[in-house]
Amino acid sequence: QGSSLNMVASESLKAPGTAKMDTPWNELGFEFRPTNSHIRLTFKDGEWGKPELVKEPYINLHIGATALHYGQACFEGLKAFAHEDGSVNIFRPDENSKRMQNSCERTLMPAIPTDVFVNACKEVVRDNIEYVPPYGSGGALYIRPLLFGSGPKIGLQPADEYTFLILVIPVGDYYKGGLSAPVDGLLIEDFDRAAPRGVGNVKVAGNYAADLLPNMLGKKKGFPIGLYLDAATQSMVEEFSTSNFVGINNEANTFVTPKSPSVLPSITNKSLMTIAKDEGLKVEARDIPVEELDQFDEVLAVGTAVVVTPVGSITRFLEDGSEKKYEFGEQNGEIGETTLRLYKKVRDIQNGEVEDTYGWNV
Ligand code: COI
Repeated sequence: QGSSLNMVASESLKAPGTAKMDTPWNELGFEFRPTNSHIRLTFKDGEWGKPELVKEPYINLHIGATALHYGQACFEGLKAFAHEDGSVNIFRPDENSKRMQNSCERTLMPAIPTDVFVNACKEVVRDNIEYVPPYGSGGALYIRPLLFGSGPKIGLQPADEYTFLILVIPVGDYYKGGLSAPVDGLLIEDFDRAAPRGVGNVKVAGNYAADLLPNMLGKKKGFPIGLYLDAATQSMVEEFSTSNFVGINNEANTFVTPKSPSVLPSITNKSLMTIAKDEGLKVEARDIPVEELDQFDEVLAVGTAVVVTPVGSITRFLEDGSEKKYEFGEQNGEIGETTLRLYKKVRDIQNGEVEDTYGWNV
């Protein structure tokens, strides 16, 4: 009796923002940090087992696991936010679940049913509730679901065993300075991100491995973010290394984003398209010729990790050795007005500042 009462008492002390951290909540970047646990399920003999909370951040993996050899692996990214009333809300987890199911279908992995996915997200967030950055800090608990072939195969074929896990990490801005520090982008023309009928439209691990080299080369030149063109024609804007592309033309009142079979369908972008439409902007998902960069007043990188990051410029190195710099936003360092408006709308919903009329918070 006594011990169960003690348990209730200490459980009730658990609340967002009460974990001991070596970095202030409002100064978190986007990096791995230890938390209490991750949640894990195994697929064996044709079915998924029961979810378990695991403290150790290590996996005992077979050396023949298909994830290691053939990249049979996919992941997701979503966030949980603390509201002023003390509740913690996950943003659109059903959408991430559907996207992970598409990744599984493309790579012949067994899908996780949406109810199992969403409940596992809730359970791991609950077990790490004190790591949810407190209301008002600007941070979020980043939720990273991961599903991969953990059984051995050495001939090229899908595994018989799979592991699904979800880890959580308190995070702040992905790019230093967040909304108030526009990032400079580089047009990547020496590498492609994804082929038209390849795997660019699903969130498989290899897409991100393929970006590491172009990303590092761009960073060395002083560009934190790279923008890819479509692989087939090298003439249309595709997506950033980390996120989707959005261009705003204020005179035409348009919100323009690429429609391409090789772009990852971002859930943040999908949400912004809904908000932009409701805000009276014309939303266009279509081909964007690279020359159209000249016509955008504002450019945004949008995704779970980067949220809505203003892009200050995109530099293109031309064949004759000269360079062309496309510039966006207010050139006095201020953020574009439409960027601010869209950012505020989506963050207000995520942070519980306004009524969630779309029903996105879980
Ligand atoms: C996310 O936005 O959640 C991602 O997975 C992108 C990754 C580069 C951090």
